[in-house]
Amino acid sequence: MDSSELIIPEYSLDRDCTTLSRHVLQQLNSFSADAQDLSALMNRIALAGKLIARRLSRAGLMEGVLGFTGDSNIQGESVKKMDVYANEVFISVFKQSGLVCRLASEEMDKPYYIPENCPIGRYTLLYDPIDGSSNVDINLNVGSIFAIRQQEGEDLDGEAKDLLQDGSKQIAAGYILYGPATVLVYTMGTGVHSFFLDPSLGEFILAQENIQIPDHGSVYSVNEGNFWQWDDSIRNYIRYVHRHDGYTGRYSGALVGDIHRILMQGGVFLYPGTTDKPEGKLRLLYETAPLAFIVEQAGGKAYDGLTRILDIVPDRIHYRTPVILGSKENVELVQSFLKQNDNTSNVIAR
Ligand code: AHG
Ligand code: MN
Ligand code: MN
Repeated sequence: MDSSELIIPEYSLDRDCTTLSRHVLQQLNSFSADAQDLSALMNRIALAGKLIARRLSRAGLMEGVLGFTGDSNIQGESVKKMDVYANEVFISVFKQSGLVCRLASEEMDKPYYIPENCPIGRYTLLYDPIDGSSNVDINLNVGSIFAIRQQEGEDLDGEAKDLLQDGSKQIAAGYILYGPATVLVYTMGTGVHSFFLDPSLGEFILAQENIQIPDHGSVYSVNEGNFWQWDDSIRNYIRYVHRHDGYTGRYSGALVGDIHRILMQGGVFLYPGTTDKPEGKLRLLYETAPLAFIVEQAGGKAYDGLTRILDIVPDRIHYRTPVILGSKENVELVQSFLKQNDNTSNVIAR
């Protein structure tokens, strides 16, 4: 049989074979040792995603998966059993990998070291193991967020001071969305690409390359329960969208899901500072910087108010920042309200 007689269209086989690790090598356009390392690293993140997706899909059928542990994390938030499980999954998949020397997560006070990897693996993984954990117990979408940075220096005191740099230091970033299907979205600075988990293959298969956020979208995504805790400028923006046609509110309680909607369909996500938390709720290193990298690579914008998220240098690893991110025109519209208000810089941009 010659190739013209193939029954299966060639493109479909090619597509099925475009796994995440192969795609990373294509993006780097290299088979160098560094490229192989990054490809293997992304493959381990994918394994963590598969393990977490598997546990979430069985959560209602198993003992000891749902609910709180009774402890609080470094941010003072109640910890769920799934937060602990997912945090440990990421550590476990990188043990004996030779790839990642240090992991920093919103669930751990200090970074976790894997000393046996450190002589060869100079990467740090930063991650939010379960984003939107209030959704876990009710079987709604949640996510994981990750970023990869190079470890700079020896970090002998374990304080991870080299992580206190701006978002341009991210080598790669992305998220995994555990929805009706499990989707992994990543960037390495050359566009944004999405992969669907094919459960029959146990592989993430390429779905879309070079995703672009529409310049404008109808969605605004914000917790309006905080309305009276916001600065006037944010309240005025929300009043504006209430009074104009063409806007619709969508807020799932899991940033990853809300951002995925905006990435695909356009719109804006906001978590502004409040009177209780002037710096907002979301963490720069594990949440807003990785998502800002994705959003900018897709042609959108990400600001804390008037400062670009990727330009912010944190003074501690659990640093929080307000955030406005999404379609270019929607973000600019929010910013036009901030500029009208003299007090803005105190509330939104600290
Ligand atoms: P996490 O579960 O990692 O703590 O993150 C929850 C975040 C984010 O996903 C979501 O957009 C936001 O917190 C929801 O907070 P509110 O309940 O204050 O709206
Ligand atoms: Mn989160
Ligand atoms: Mn979390």
